Amino acid sequence: MKIQITETVLRDAGQSLIATRLPYDKFEGVLETLDKAGYYSLECWGGATFDTCLRYLDEDPWVRLREIRKRVKRTKLQMLLRGQNLLGYKHYPDDVVRKFVELSVKNGIDVIRIFDALNDLRNIETCVSETIKHKGDAQVAISYTSSPVHTLENYVQLIKKIEEMGATSLCIKDMAGIMSPKECYDLVKAIKENSSLPLHVHTHSTTGLAYMTYLKAVEAGAEGIDTAISPFSGGTSQPATETLVYTLEQMGYSTSVDTSVLSDINDYFAPLAEEYLESGLLDPRVLMTDAGILKYQIPGGMLSNLISQLKSAGAIDRLGEVLAETPRVREDMGYPPLVTPSSQIIGVQAATNVLVGERYKSVSKEISAYLRGEYGTPPGKVNPEVIRKVLGEEKPHTGRFADTLKDGFEAGKAEIGDKARCDEDVLSYIIFPQVYEKFAAERDERERNRVKYTITKVK
Ligand code: CO
Repeated sequence: MKIQITETVLRDAGQSLIATRLPYDKFEGVLETLDKAGYYSLECWGGATFDTCLRYLDEDPWVRLREIRKRVKRTKLQMLLRGQNLLGYKHYPDDVVRKFVELSVKNGIDVIRIFDALNDLRNIETCVSETIKHKGDAQVAISYTSSPVHTLENYVQLIKKIEEMGATSLCIKDMAGIMSPKECYDLVKAIKENSSLPLHVHTHSTTGLAYMTYLKAVEAGAEGIDTAISPFSGGTSQPATETLVYTLEQMGYSTSVDTSVLSDINDYFAPLAEEYLESGLLDPRVLMTDAGILKYQIPGGMLSNLISQLKSAGAIDRLGEVLAETPRVREDMGYPPLVTPSSQIIGVQAATNVLVGERYKSVSKEISAYLRGEYGTPPGKVNPEVIRKVLGEEKPHTGRFADTLKDGFEAGKAEIGDKARCDEDVLSYIIFPQVYEKFAAERDERERNRVKYTITKVK
């Protein structure tokens, strides 16, 4: 049997280990080699890369994508998309979502992995239909979590609905690395018995389970796994590509990956990892195995946010109480998977409940929006007392939130005017207005300077 390998070094590995600070210049030299490795796909765009390019790297994310596409001709290019949130942090109207998907495919993306933090399929349907319209692979990911409402039967029901929507492949996305080998085996088996779509499994090495989880995923019939070239693997990143290819080939699976090319890719990234370690951007602590997450069932990123929140409030001694409060808040909220943005919303509320000394006396505007139904329908029942306490007489919204939004693309285009040079720029502006305006102003400035420089040189 053939196993498809998705290499994550250009997206999730960098996002998990070095806060997405991998500028295009640093990996341009390896793109043609990556294309020769025989990967099924190269995850290289979306997630936090878009925001980081504009905000910190002075890079146009669209230009980055086109430059990658120019050099990676055979391998599929893959991105991660947060459904109706696109690559931002709120819901966008359908016309904006459609334009974004259309231009992602036009600029070179083949596989769009689409997910919603609450697994509310209404938040991904526009992305899916538009991806299919442009002949992309609409890979729908379910956000993995465990709770009394996340039973195998419920997951299978979800998968059936995803198949009905027209998804072309599936993914189990375990962002916290908490899916155990057994849970993975059972879930993959159940999905394979009920769906004929190709299934990819995505996890992180954070808790140390990932290598075993992938092995069980493959044994249960999953067609693909996500790995990272070894210098950028392990810890909060994915398991190492070389190790998985070695293991799988030995067990009689074929991966189509050329191990001699993997060793060239390793040679390219090893000194880079060294450089990031020396600069401190790669903190060795993120490479350690954190089994504590298995006890608290909360993602590593969320734990470090809680710690810094408590430290800044001078209340780090109350961490134990906050960790005990977190699952209670999650239960009140109907057991959402803990992924951006629900992980932050719940973590902050748990800390607030403990520090204020009365539950939900003080709530963030995100909690109110969540309870009003603006993020979608939670997987389980929300505690009605909490709704009453926070919203009073106001009734939660049960429709699809994006239906309440007016079309936004033309308005955004008019608003940004000639500071946008193309429709791609308009989308960057709509998603990150202030960040884009600053980026565009600096881009103009840089280009003016470059022109001056060229003129001086000619003289
Ligand atoms: Co991930």
